Amino acid sequence: MTFKDLPKVGLLGLLVLFGGLSEAPAQLGSRSADDWASVLDREQRVSGLKIEEVVALLKLKPGDVVADIGAGTGVFSGPLAQAVAPTGTLLAVDIDQGLLDHIAQRAKEENIKNIQPILGEFDDPNLPTRVDVAFFHDVLHHIEHRQAYLKKLATYLEPDGQVVIIDLIFDRPDGPHRNQPEMHITQEQVRRWMAAAGFPVMQEIDLFDNKFFVVFRRNP
Ligand SMILES: C[S@@+](CC[C@H](N)C(=O)[O-])C[C@H]1O[C@@H](n2cnc3c(N)ncnc32)[C@H](O)[C@@H]1O
Repeated sequence: MTFKDLPKVGLLGLLVLFGGLSEAPAQLGSRSADDWASVLDREQRVSGLKIEEVVALLKLKPGDVVADIGAGTGVFSGPLAQAVAPTGTLLAVDIDQGLLDHIAQRAKEENIKNIQPILGEFDDPNLPTRVDVAFFHDVLHHIEHRQAYLKKLATYLEPDGQVVIIDLIFDRPDGPHRNQPEMHITQEQVRRWMAAAGFPVMQEIDLFDNKFFVVFRRNP
């Protein structure tokens, strides 16, 4: 299209053209809540997550406030909530209300009383309070504006708070999201984004073959 063609395109065309150029935030690899549930709760997946080991490594204390960001169906939310009970709180954050309903129902069935579901936004976890630990498992590669998200997240952390990021190592041609290069992130990128948000690496934990597990802290 050249400027000569503009009159033919008309006002509506221009709105569509320039509207498409402004970037609306999105979830990468989006699914419906039911679809997520069938994938995330699969026995084969859950048994490989080493949930007890991961939670033990975080050394949480009763009274801590922890945000499980992108909590999904809550496979980590329950064990994290139990680790900070009875006085601590687990904020289960997701952008999908259907998944938050799933987590609330699950907490009721398991008689876990210290889980608070939080509806986040694409670029903001909307936390109602400062947190001691923000935990991401298998989530950051779904967030489009990762660097901006982590910068925003940093504003919700207690001064000695920690950010824990466990995510996939995208190094296999047959691995997950193999046809979605926009979802591929590296540990090195995450380290840079976190450093820019004021959180250098505190600890790298070698627990998984296919995922990195890094703890960041403002004053390590
Ligand atoms: C692969 S699932 C992981 C769920 C859970 N952490 C687990 O490991 O079982 C990714 C989750 O991230 C959520 N998500 C995607 N973008 C998000 C965002 N910007 N903020 C919060 N949650 C998000 C999705 O709705 C989904 O529940």
